[in-house]
Amino acid sequence: MATGPRDRVVPHQIHVFVCHWGKVCPTKGSQELTGLLRDMLAARGMQDKVIVSKSGCLELCDIGPNIVIYPGDVWYSNVRPADLEEIVQSHLIGGKPVERLRSPKAADPASDAQQ
Ligand code: FES
Repeated sequence: MATGPRDRVVPHQIHVFVCHWGKVCPTKGSQELTGLLRDMLAARGMQDKVIVSKSGCLELCDIGPNIVIYPGDVWYSNVRPADLEEIVQSHLIGGKPVERLRSPKAADPASDAQQ
């Protein structure tokens, strides 16, 4: 049986999207967040468990930088470099989202209905 690139893809348990290519979040440091988060995960040997992707605009520009994590559809806004350690420890390792960073979308019942 032939193997291709998809046969070698490691199934990640957690997928983090950082608004990286939008027009606003990069001006607020989102590109730095992407690099820092990847470094933090690599330092913990978690790169096979968690993948960090650069996303386009997540449509919450005014409260960026924004991050969304799956599974769970957990959105974080106004994320700063100093917040990443808590996100890694509490959410990505401990499985408990960081409530103080969750975006207003998370509190919107209409958005919950879409999940
Ligand atoms: S630029 Fe990041 S949400 Fe729009």
